Amino acid sequence: MRKKIVAGNWKMNKNLQEGLELAKNLDAVLANEKVNCDVIIGTPFIHLASVCAAVDTQRLGVAAENCADHASGAYTGEVSAEMVKSTGANYVILGHSERRAYYGETPEMLKTKVELALANGLTPIFCIGEVLEERKAGEHFNVVKAQIEGSLFSLSAEDFGKIILAYEPVWAIGTGETATPEQAEEIHAYIRGVLAEKYGQEVADNCSILYGGSCKPSNAKELFANPNVDGGLIGGASLKVEDFMGIVRAW
Ligand code: 13P
Repeated sequence: MRKKIVAGNWKMNKNLQEGLELAKNLDAVLANEKVNCDVIIGTPFIHLASVCAAVDTQRLGVAAENCADHASGAYTGEVSAEMVKSTGANYVILGHSERRAYYGETPEMLKTKVELALANGLTPIFCIGEVLEERKAGEHFNVVKAQIEGSLFSLSAEDFGKIILAYEPVWAIGTGETATPEQAEEIHAYIRGVLAEKYGQEVADNCSILYGGSCKPSNAKELFANPNVDGGLIGGASLKVEDFMGIVRAW
């Protein structure tokens, strides 16, 4: 059966010392507590090697927040999937709405990033989600379907089986406005149906689909209670051990 997962996305927060302290504190809590889900933190690139050396990455998975759409070479300032893997990280967040909106990431670029991540043994946490105008227009189903088709549906069923999906409605990210449990379940169930149509029911049933967007300790339980919500991708509330663990404990 599919995994339950709570993953943090620190975004561009915490300097190296602060990030290392947060990761170590979280790992120490997890060392003394039996939790009912996989726990992952997504950190800035420069934190990855130090964080991976300081925590037990079996207990606390570590993700990059992005990787390059080229394997190597003259791409100043970029960080490749191979480099990410060499830090000890095992995951990479790809296609976050902030990267799509502010850095012009297209479905085609993301397709390449996903392929490079998989080729280097990284598990992609692939983000999809509509903006407010699209939801108001009733276009959210079509939008997420196109995002999935455009970047993931050229994968074999075997490779698709390695993907974690994160549905993050853009209007709920960092706004304090969460999708209702009903809205989350409705679109997660739809997404699973799209996967089943392409890859069959078994692959669809095995895919973890996380919800992201103002998820916090106070609303995690009701979101996670839905049959098609397999966990969360957490921004703001991943920056404090107690908040993040409050969400982990919702499982
Ligand atoms: P918030 O939890 O801060 O709304 O961010 C969600 C997110 O974008 C995680 O990737």
